[in-house]
Amino acid sequence: MKQTTVFFCSPHPKGFTFKLLESFLGNLKNINFIDVYSKKILPCIDCKSCKCFGKCCLSDDICEIYRAFENDDILIFATPVYYFSFPSPMKSILDRSQKYFSNRIINVSNRISFIVATCGSEKEFGITVLEKQIKMLSSLIGVDFLGCLFLSGTDKINSFLN
Ligand SMILES: Cc1cc2nc3c(=O)[nH]c(=O)nc-3n(C[C@H](O)[C@H](O)[C@H](O)COP(=O)(O)O)c2cc1C
Repeated sequence: MKQTTVFFCSPHPKGFTFKLLESFLGNLKNINFIDVYSKKILPCIDCKSCKCFGKCCLSDDICEIYRAFENDDILIFATPVYYFSFPSPMKSILDRSQKYFSNRIINVSNRISFIVATCGSEKEFGITVLEKQIKMLSSLIGVDFLGCLFLSGTDKINSFLN
């Protein structure tokens, strides 16, 4: 059976991003759900350890993320847009993926990545940076980037509910 991992990047367990993810995937059973806000992911310090020795010098929860990047078949990045990008924990994960850039060992495999995203603004340009970032990561870990399911204008929904 194919292994799906969701990298859940919102601090709100039942917020807009979760609801969109749920409506997209339906049953979240049998899915490896990684709540990135609950993980200890230190920021990259550009120590060059990955370039010189092939591995990261920082000791935290990143190994769980690397394992999913390297092995799982379907990688879903479920996220709100923060300042046109990912929230900080996921941005730290992207920076820590520098080890794949440094090592350039790309095993092309039959695996895919996908983004599920929400943003407050009604304008859709919030998604552009997310797509560039996940396209880059996907090419580094040998995964095909499929695209994005995007819900914009959540600020309006918020003001409607309040
Ligand atoms: C720190 C912060 C930065 C944000 N930056 C943007 C932004 O650049 N563009 C945008 O359209 N919405 C932005 N938003 C709004 C969120 O993307 C929006 O509220 C999102 O739907 C929240 O999803 P959630 O309920 O799953 O957390 C920002 C919100 C926060 C808290």
